[in-house]
Parts: sequence; structure tokens; C-alpha cells
Amino acid sequence: MLTKPSSLTLAGVTLALTATLALAHGDVAPQAVDTAGLPAVGEEWLTENPYRAEAAGQEVWAKAVAIGDSGYNQNCARCHGLGVVSGGLAPDLRFLEAEEFGDEWFIERFRFGYTQNGTTKMPAFGELLGQEAAWAIRTYIETRPDTDQIEELTGELTALRDQLVAMAKGGEGDAQAIHDELTEVAGGIETLSGAPVADSIARRAALILEAGGDNAYHKAAETLTIGLSAAH
Ligand code: HEC
Repeated sequence: MLTKPSSLTLAGVTLALTATLALAHGDVAPQAVDTAGLPAVGEEWLTENPYRAEAAGQEVWAKAVAIGDSGYNQNCARCHGLGVVSGGLAPDLRFLEAEEFGDEWFIERFRFGYTQNGTTKMPAFGELLGQEAAWAIRTYIETRPDTDQIEELTGELTALRDQLVAMAKGGEGDAQAIHDELTEVAGGIETLSGAPVADSIARRAALILEAGGDNAYHKAAETLTIGLSAAH
């Protein structure tokens, strides 16, 4: 009879601490992640990312990166940093190896969070967001580019951006040449996780030009502008 009330009290303390942490980091309620379009993974939690291009193909991989982008930035960025560049509040997740060892560690934390001496340092996400969201976020995290490299490329990327801005306003320019240069730059940018392809702003801008359509120059320029300002 004594154990029940005391464990309830403990739960109350934990809740109070969690609430304090919630205040410290803003709204902690996990934001649902729409994983429509990703292959279902099943009930059993995997220990290795199923959405890598080697395993699932290019298209699934690209979809996972896009879904993981919004899932991460809504649920994880307030502690682990925008674009996965840590401001020191929590570990920098870009360095987690993109292989089974890193995956196991990732999924353990994702599912159960981390509590130290009764204080929730990181909330558990497993039950609330589910496995597809977990691996999409994992895929986004491991494909972050090395921001130091982007910074070194600032001059070149800014020049390409400026050409695209001029072209968006009707000026002359060689879209194919710009596309090819962006693709070449993108190919030289690496991840810190060891994942083979970095989802850099150069890659994104090249893909926008490849897709074409109205506003492609403007959208590609904007992607570069936002990315360049984030790199500083
Ligand atoms: C309230 C802040 C907070 C939020 C929100 C948060 N984390 Fe964490 N996370 C932490 C802290 C603090 C640690 C360090 C815990 C420790 O000491 O092991 C951590 C550790 C981790 C680790 C282990 C990293 C390592 O190098 O050991 C992973 C993986 C991780 N978090 C993923 C995520 C993901 C994915 C999300 C979003 C779905 C997320 N976290 C949301 C605070 C947070």
C-alpha cells in the first residue's frame, strides 16, 4: 500500500521536471509527421535505416530526406539545432555514423528519449511519431552537408545565385552551365556521417533547375540564398 502512492509522487515529480524543461525549450508536444509515400516498415523496430538509396532506391531516399526535413525541424531542432547544426544544447547529430552502429544508437534515443536523475533531457518519440517518421528523420540527419565546406564555397555559390536572380528577372544566362556547375559543386560536398550523398543547397538548387517550370530560376536562387545565410 505504501509503494503505490510513493511511485505516484515520483511520477508527479518527473512530470513537474518535464514541464520545466518544456518551458525551457518552448512547446514540447511532438508534432505528427506525415509519412505518406514512404514504404511501411512494419511493427517490429528495425536496427538499420531502411530508407537508404542502396536499400530502397533513389526515389524513396529522396522522399525520406524531404519528410525527415520537416519532421526533424519540428521536433528535434529546438534542442539539436536548425539544420542539425548544434548550438551546444544537445549533441551534434551530424556525426552519428550512417551505418548500423549509428542507427542502433539513434533509434534507441528516438524511442525512449533520455532521462538522468529523474530529469527528462530528451523526450521519447517512439510511440508518438512511429517508425517511418524515425527513419525519415534519420535519413535527413545523415545527409546533412559539411557546413565548413559550404562556407568555403560561399563565393562561388553567391556568384551562381546572382546569375539566377538576374535570369529570374528576364536577363540572359546559361541555365545548363549553371546547373552543371551546381552539380559539380554538390558532388564535392561531403556528409559528416559518412553517408555517400550530401543533401546540400547546391544539390537542391540543381534539382530545381532540372525540374524546370515557372519560377525555377527564382526558386533555385532562393534556395541558395537561404542556405548561404544559414551557413553563417
Ligand atoms: C528537449 C531537448 C531535446 C529534443 C526535443 C530532442 N533531443 Fe535528442 N538529445 C537531447 C539531449 C540533451 C541529448 C543528450 C543525452 C545524453 O547525454 O546522452 C540527446 C541525445 C540524442 C541522441 C544521441 C546522440 C549522441 O551523440 O549520443 C540522438 C540520436 C537524438 N538525441 C536524437 C533526437 C531526435 C531524432 C529528436 C527529434 C525527434 C530529438 N533528439 C529531440 C535533447 C533533445
